[in-house]
Amino acid sequence: KHIRIIGVPIDYGADRRGVDMGPSAIRYAGLHEKLRQAGHQVLDSGNLKVPVPESRQMKHPKLKFLDEIVQVNQVLARVVAKSVHDGEFPVVLGGDHSIAMGTIAGLLRVRPRLGMIWFDAHGDFNTEETTPSGNVHGMPVAVAAGLSQSALALPFRDHFLDPAKIVYVGVRTLDPDEAEALRQSQATVFSMHEVDRYGMREVMARAMDIVTQGTDGVHLSFDIDALDPLFAPGSGTPYSGGLTDREAHLALELLAEADILTSMEMVEVNPILDEHNRTGELAANLIASALGHRII
Ligand code: ARG
Ligand code: MN
Ligand code: MN
Ligand code: MN
Repeated sequence: KHIRIIGVPIDYGADRRGVDMGPSAIRYAGLHEKLRQAGHQVLDSGNLKVPVPESRQMKHPKLKFLDEIVQVNQVLARVVAKSVHDGEFPVVLGGDHSIAMGTIAGLLRVRPRLGMIWFDAHGDFNTEETTPSGNVHGMPVAVAAGLSQSALALPFRDHFLDPAKIVYVGVRTLDPDEAEALRQSQATVFSMHEVDRYGMREVMARAMDIVTQGTDGVHLSFDIDALDPLFAPGSGTPYSGGLTDREAHLALELLAEADILTSMEMVEVNPILDEHNRTGELAANLIASALGHRII
């Protein structure tokens, strides 16, 4: 594959500062080399420009840093769309999960019937109405699915992601109104309950079935907090009872084996909260697994 790495050093969507250093941490962990070892050609666009923290303003308590987030995501959407149009496989490095809005918007311009697998402890299915925190990283799936009526969603309203083509894996905490919205939607949620009950292999078989039905591509959005904080300490919104590193690797190896992915993103790696880049290394290794790296 021709892989295009795109760094998005943004933390406006999250409360805890530091995820803006995620792209560096993941690159530093040897991402390029791992992907080349897996047999791919790797091109790196570097990082998108993100306004500096000192210039930011917090005008909307229910949509914190709205303008900065929209601005960066509009650029990201253009960069991602061009990459896919050029036949590349984009690997977007966050940054907080608000960047999924831009990534998905860009993908939908070229692949309007996109399917998506979303690994996360959380649903990220809040709107400006249901959010308890005002943090936009809790909203990107709702925006992509067309549920948000706010200025956040305005630039991304030409294409929506069909909720029936969305599958979650690893979810274990939802805000009350967010849970209700998800229940009303057609998205499939394999929470930790299903992972424990059926095992990762079966969960992934079902997930892959759903995202390949009537779709023209499959995006993997991977929030590192899908893993248990024991394995991924460098994350700002940790929640116990998560995936082990082995389950996560297996899931991504199964995706690589099925060869259904057409793009991916890795988000929410926070080097400030990490232990000697352990989480950055995990993130780089997980990306390599999703792209076919094998030890033998
Ligand atoms: N549901 C919570 C909120 O809306 C947490 C969201 C966490 N999202 C994430 N991408 N880590 O604030
Ligand atoms: Mn999360
Ligand atoms: Mn998330
Ligand atoms: Mn290592």
